[in-house]
Amino acid sequence: MRILGIETSCDETAAAVVEDGTAILSNVVASQVEIHSRYGGIVPEVASRQHMLSIIPIMEQAISDASVSAGDLSGIAVTNGPGLAGSLLVGVNLAKALAFAWNLPLIGINHLEAHIYANWLGTATPAFPLLALIVSGGHTDLVLMKGHGELVRLGRTRDDAAGEAFDKVARVLGLGYPGGPAIERASREGTPCHRLPRAWLRSSDDFSFSGMKTSVVRLADELGITGTEQPDPKAADVAASFQRAVVDVLVTKTVDAANRLGVKQILLAGGVAANGLLRDTMLRRSPVPVLIPDPALCTDNAAMIASCGYFHLRAGKTSGWDLDVLPGLTIG
Ligand code: KG4
Ligand code: ZN
Repeated sequence: MRILGIETSCDETAAAVVEDGTAILSNVVASQVEIHSRYGGIVPEVASRQHMLSIIPIMEQAISDASVSAGDLSGIAVTNGPGLAGSLLVGVNLAKALAFAWNLPLIGINHLEAHIYANWLGTATPAFPLLALIVSGGHTDLVLMKGHGELVRLGRTRDDAAGEAFDKVARVLGLGYPGGPAIERASREGTPCHRLPRAWLRSSDDFSFSGMKTSVVRLADELGITGTEQPDPKAADVAASFQRAVVDVLVTKTVDAANRLGVKQILLAGGVAANGLLRDTMLRRSPVPVLIPDPALCTDNAAMIASCGYFHLRAGKTSGWDLDVLPGLTIG
């Protein structure tokens, strides 16, 4: 079964064709990073306008790269939440039009669940029950997955998402946007010499990063970091200390939950899973095998949407023409 996936929830316009949920036949992503970087963050109206300009050529390229035609497809999967309402609408409306014109099932997909499915696009097959840590720009969720469609959210962030904290700290340190890759680059030039507070929230699987972010702001002030001089060795040390503290909390809490629940595997997912220190530390400290998508499949893409769509379609879960966008959708 070949599924066309469509993704427009945030600032990436993406389309992909995936076979049987695991083999990528094409995967096209048009990033809007350069357009938004001059504003230091995503401007929703600009994002939806860019999606409208890009989505048809991107979808056509995905079909052509995969060397398929409409008759070779079994369904159209599209992100319908969470995300920016105006952006989601562009993808959902195209998906409806294609599904109607080509007489194919329409499959609305939760973007967060799809991030987990990026792990089905690698060489190893995930084994249930598993624990998935989703760390993206808008979400930090710890999810127990007992099977396809059997997801329970154990914990979530109570304030900032991990990626959001990376983006905000990068702004304070003058490292640019998007913040995650910028912090990772700067950290290579610094040492994690500053001790930042970690919110353990021991009685739950929830996370909190806002206290750490506030400490960074105070520390940057004390050290006289203005964010205007680059490269700044003091900022590099703060970046490295921040990165280490976030990774420490994410890995410790995930490993604790994995031990408690006796899962077979840990899966990483979402944009922050592209972070080298997080990947290395989780691999080193986990008691069970760890699966992590290729960095390019951690950040937003449509191959993960198509993969997730395959497993929904196989279970008979399709959407009607009334499929709506759900900007505040959660997981589990
Ligand atoms: O999953 P994603 O592409 O989009 C959302 O669904 O939010 O995640 C984007 C987030 C951004 O906050 C970005 O700064 C972060 O992922 N990110 C990283 C890295 N690459 C992207 N954070 C840390 N280290 C990275 N290498
Ligand atoms: Zn995402």
